[in-house]
Parts: sequence; C-alpha cells; structure tokens
Amino acid sequence: MTSRLIVGVTGASGSVLALETLRQLRGAGVETHLVVTNGARMTIAHELGSEGLARLNEAATHVHSPRNLAAPIASGSFRTAGMIVAPCSMRSLAAMAHGLGDNLLTRAADVVLKEKRRLVVAPREAPLHEGHLEAMLKLARLGAVIAPPTPPFYARPATMEDMVREIAARLLQWAGIDPGESMTRWGWR
Ligand SMILES: Cc1cc2nc3c(=O)[nH]c(=O)nc-3n(C[C@H](O)[C@H](O)[C@H](O)COP(=O)(O)O)c2cc1C
Repeated sequence: MTSRLIVGVTGASGSVLALETLRQLRGAGVETHLVVTNGARMTIAHELGSEGLARLNEAATHVHSPRNLAAPIASGSFRTAGMIVAPCSMRSLAAMAHGLGDNLLTRAADVVLKEKRRLVVAPREAPLHEGHLEAMLKLARLGAVIAPPTPPFYARPATMEDMVREIAARLLQWAGIDPGESMTRWGWR
C-alpha cells in the first residue's frame, strides 16, 4: 500500500485538527493531497487567523483546488491509501453520504469509497438532529469510519494541544497510519 493520503478540510469548526493531522502525517512520512473547501476558508481564517490557510498548505505535500475536478485524486486510477476528512461539516457529510461529487473533496471521498479504500470522517456539530445521524449511518454503511473529534480523557490531556494531538493521532490510526508517540495508548505498549 502506498503511503499517500488525501486530507479534506471543510467548514466545520476545528481547523486546528486539520493542521495537526497534516503535521502528524508529514512526521509519519506520508505524502498528503490537501483539499480545502470554499466553506472552510472562513472557518480557518476565524480559528487560525489570516495565515491559517497558508499554514495548512505548507503542511501538505500537494494542494488541490476544490474546483479542480480533473485533479489526480478525482480518479480511482490514482492510488492512495485513503482519505481523512477533518473537520467534517454536516454539509460535506450529507454530500458524501449521498455520493454527490459536487466538488473535489466530495468527489475524492466518493472515489475512496468505491475503490474500497479507507475513508475516515471527523464530523463536528452539536447537537445532532436526525438528518445528521442518518447521514452518518448511511456513510458508515458505505464503509467509512465515523470518528467525531472527541478527546480520550483517559489520556489526561492537560492542554488543547494535547487534546488535538490525541484526536489527530487516532484519525491516523484509523486511516492505517502509525501515529507513533502522538497517541497515548491504554495498557501495555
Ligand atoms: C466559524 C464557523 C464555524 C462553523 N462550524 C460548523 C460546524 O462545527 N459544523 C458544521 O456542520 N458547520 C459549521 N459551520 C458552517 C459551515 O462552514 C457551512 O455549512 C459551509 O457551507 C460548509 O461547507 P463545506 O462542507 O463545503 O465546507 C461553521 C461556519 C463558521 C463560519
């Protein structure tokens, strides 16, 4: 399996999780293909500041425009290990659950699902209504790992950085990438 992964970033809250995920993937020697939706730009600017998007782009190996449906990751013939969508908005969640390849992020996710590769989705909204839950169930049945960004409190995170690191590490693990020391494990190591 090639160590190449797609990272999708949407307009849900939690842009810092995307940054940490990209950093950990780089640390693990994984080639990343980043797609940031138009909706995410506002959230990133609000949460990471005006340089936020540039920091995300710098942390990735390759960056693709969400409008570029001719990018390599839009085709199943381009081999990847899968995709992490973090954070994932309810809009993108619903689009992925219904196979809407309306931008490069949702198209790449659809390709990952049809090719039976790993799709790890970190949906962020609270509280969740029935439509959100139905979309999560539908996506889970298509084979995605639904991994809401909730911290492992047993790891006793002391800071927000600790929490984000632990959550991102789990996204890597579910995508089949060893997060190494970023992840606190219960019991014997
Ligand atoms: C600061 C901010 C925070 C947001 N947080 C969330 C959120 O946690 N979950 C969510 O589903 N949408 C959230 N939204 C709304 C999405 O950004 C919006 O629905 C957008 O159209 C999603 O498009 P996308 O899925 O293409 O990124 C937020 C918007 C802003 C401006």
